[in-house]
Amino acid sequence: MASNRTFTMLKPDAVRKGYIGAILEQITASGFRIVAMKLTQLTINDAKEFYAVHKERPFYGELVEYMTSGPIVAAILEKENAVEDFRTLIGATNPEEAAEGTIRKKYATSISENAVHGSDSDENAAIEGAFHFSGREQF
Ligand code: TYD
Repeated sequence: MASNRTFTMLKPDAVRKGYIGAILEQITASGFRIVAMKLTQLTINDAKEFYAVHKERPFYGELVEYMTSGPIVAAILEKENAVEDFRTLIGATNPEEAAEGTIRKKYATSISENAVHGSDSDENAAIEGAFHFSGREQF
């Protein structure tokens, strides 16, 4: 059975450009319930750990630098089939390849500054949610 929770971050470019409200509106209008949320900023160590799976990739250093460049919104979202449906809602990693109407198509700057994160599996959703929120902060 698919889990009903996923984890998201509104990334520094989206926060800097004032898109928090518009993106959260699209997320909730698409049927996701916010069960945890905060405005925060990743430390270098946070970003390195969060993206450790990419540490051998050429973009890793830039990714860590970018993700620590300003505040982010971290949130846990609930909906039936949350992980897959949220990946559909945000669109392809590269906004140029993202479908019309998706969050990345509308709000992303580039493949590296792509406005929003969405967990890619139920297992990672649980790990990433727990990285940012204690049990008491999840509703
Ligand atoms: P990835 O997990 O492949 O994509 P997604 O966020 O869609 O699950 O990559 C993680 C992040 O790394 C991605 O959101 C932006 C950054 N990235 C780059 O900067 N350049 C790249 O070529 C790729 C593939 C990712």
